[in-house]
Amino acid sequence: MEVYITSREITQVIKIKKAENNSIGFVPTMGALHKGHLTLMEEALRNNDYVVVSVFVNPTQFNNSEDLNKYPRNLDRDISLLKTLSNSNIILFAPTVKAIYNDKIETESFDFDGLEHEMEGKFRVGHFDGVGTVVKRLLQLIEPNKAYFGEKDFQQLQIIRKLVKKRQLATQIIGCQIYRESSGLAMSSRNERLSDLQKNEAALIYKTLKTAKLKFGTESVTTILDWVAKVFLNNTILKLEYFVISDEDTLKPIKIKSNNIKYRAFIAVYADEIRLIDNIALN
Ligand code: PAJ
Repeated sequence: MEVYITSREITQVIKIKKAENNSIGFVPTMGALHKGHLTLMEEALRNNDYVVVSVFVNPTQFNNSEDLNKYPRNLDRDISLLKTLSNSNIILFAPTVKAIYNDKIETESFDFDGLEHEMEGKFRVGHFDGVGTVVKRLLQLIEPNKAYFGEKDFQQLQIIRKLVKKRQLATQIIGCQIYRESSGLAMSSRNERLSDLQKNEAALIYKTLKTAKLKFGTESVTTILDWVAKVFLNNTILKLEYFVISDEDTLKPIKIKSNNIKYRAFIAVYADEIRLIDNIALN
């Protein structure tokens, strides 16, 4: 597997691959790779000649420095996992902060038509400006034909789609299904921090989403919101931060359903200080 750490190297390599008529897929990550990440890479490998995987813990998308410092970093382990894909068509880009931000770590301000103010945007102020800043830079650097993002972070996926449209970037954005543990818990690097007890209980998150989906066919939105609140009310292990039912395109929460609109339920839950998010398509 080829590994590059400077912007100049990666652009040169890609230029050569493109000149040889190869298509380039791109999977941006912050490392601490797990099977969920690998499913994105597998999808990208199926549909492109080469796949660039970036591993970069982006400082501008963290709300506090403790979170940033604590973020797990283990490039050797990431490389071993990438090698299990047993494919020589992966190009790893693992830049330093300087390679991406030069000497000034600055965050660009974006207008994502309000997508950035819902859900995660309310609880993680400035987060999506940081995501927008780094993803824009990476897309401009790599200029992939297709870039792959997980529906696990559905709000992020919609924001990247908006970014590409607004900035007229020539990359097609592909959304990939959420990969789950056998209990249904959405795979996340944070799951490793859960105790056995918390992990068992966290299966309730997806179970609740699935029941909400069933109820969505016959019950009102407010009835479902009340029901979910009750599910978590007396739970001593999981604390509900939010549960909303929203229009999939605008991400605006709704109280009344309309025809011909796609809806999705979104949830954020705390187990102690570990924050877990998940979502499900409702119709
Ligand atoms: P990170 O959290 O490392 O996630 C990288 C990609 O993997 C994202 O598109 C995320 O949605 C996807 N992903 C994570 N868990 C998944 C799962 N269980 N199933 C499917 N996809 C999953 O998201 C980021 O990094 C950063 O914000 C980034 C886009 C790299 C910008 O810094």
